[in-house]
Amino acid sequence: MTPKHPSSDLQPTVRDYEARAKAILSADRVAYFFGGAADERTLEANQRAISEIELIPRMLRDLRGGSTRLTLLGQHMPHPILVAPVAYQRLVHPDGEIAMAMGAGAQDTVMVLSAQSSIDAAAVRAASSACTWFQLYWGPSRDANLALVQRMAGLGFSAIVLTVDAPVQGVRDSEARTDFQLPPDIKAVNLANVPVPQFAPLEQSESILFDRIAHIAPKWTDVEWLCRNSPLPVILKGIVHPADALLAVEAGAAAIIASNHGGRILDTVPASIRLLPAIVTAVNGSVPVLMDGGVRRGTDVLKALALGATAVLVGRPAIAGLTVAGPAGISHVLRLLRDELEIAMMLTGCATLKEITPGILYRNE
Ligand code: FNR
Ligand code: LAC
Repeated sequence: MTPKHPSSDLQPTVRDYEARAKAILSADRVAYFFGGAADERTLEANQRAISEIELIPRMLRDLRGGSTRLTLLGQHMPHPILVAPVAYQRLVHPDGEIAMAMGAGAQDTVMVLSAQSSIDAAAVRAASSACTWFQLYWGPSRDANLALVQRMAGLGFSAIVLTVDAPVQGVRDSEARTDFQLPPDIKAVNLANVPVPQFAPLEQSESILFDRIAHIAPKWTDVEWLCRNSPLPVILKGIVHPADALLAVEAGAAAIIASNHGGRILDTVPASIRLLPAIVTAVNGSVPVLMDGGVRRGTDVLKALALGATAVLVGRPAIAGLTVAGPAGISHVLRLLRDELEIAMMLTGCATLKEITPGILYRNE
């Protein structure tokens, strides 16, 4: 009889968690957490494109002593599945980001805390052993940005994830249709001391985007400045074009996250998994390339690694775990993905993450 991995027939799957979370949450919160920009084509493409890639297994290899271990930015990790930054987690669970950090800590992985966390970063750090990175949205003042980074370094965060793909929010029709709004008690509490941009009134001929927001939006020179002055390594999240990946390396980024923000910003951007290979080629091993968007199965993790990612992040799957069962739910979601990755590695003849190469992907030529 074929031996079984204990996880190979456990319910629920990651997609079951998502279905359950959508049943629990109000329609406007479903739109916020599980929706995307405009016609949601990128949102849909992320999952479809990665699941459509076919695998070609290899047999009879000696896999003794294999593992899913890796070293990422000097840190030893048992598996390559990280928790992506997601804003306002108290909307789905009373303990919000604290619960998320506990679930991530239980699976020895990194949690990226959103700039728009609904819980104070110090409380998140105190509640969990998880390694945490802090995600930053660039604000108008360099000094205020650096002060925030320094506060996070002092709290024990070990990297900064600068998200560069959202100088303005995407077109969020599904949120507008369901009238999604933040309740007054849920706020971006870590940004309380960050100055809010004050815009002069617009002339008729002016554009709020080009004549106001573009003036405060980050530029490559700001990224260089941050990389030079930050006490923590700076990771750039939201890189889509290979030329931008090169600019990120030149600016001093310690790593890149190939991401279309889960299809929430610019709709009709290609699926993350399709963007990944050109970014990996451009970067040519100079820094690790991570990927997020659409990862729902261990085979999805395997495929991202086969195409050159060092690790992946999950956003909505972690939120689904948090919604359904708090820290235990997040931990279970991460564990399911890790167990499925192990099964997929054994079935494709890969003993280590380094052995996961494009050779396991079926090419119909
Ligand atoms: C996000 N994401 C995000 N990214 C970021 O850099 N800062 C943020 O505050 C947020 N907030 C946020 C809220 C919600 C509700 C979602 C779903 C996503 C994007 C996130 O980090 C990640 O890129 C995607 O979620 C990855 O796609 P999957 O895993 O959700 O398919
Ligand atoms: C979003 C912002 C918070 O995706 O990043 O909603």
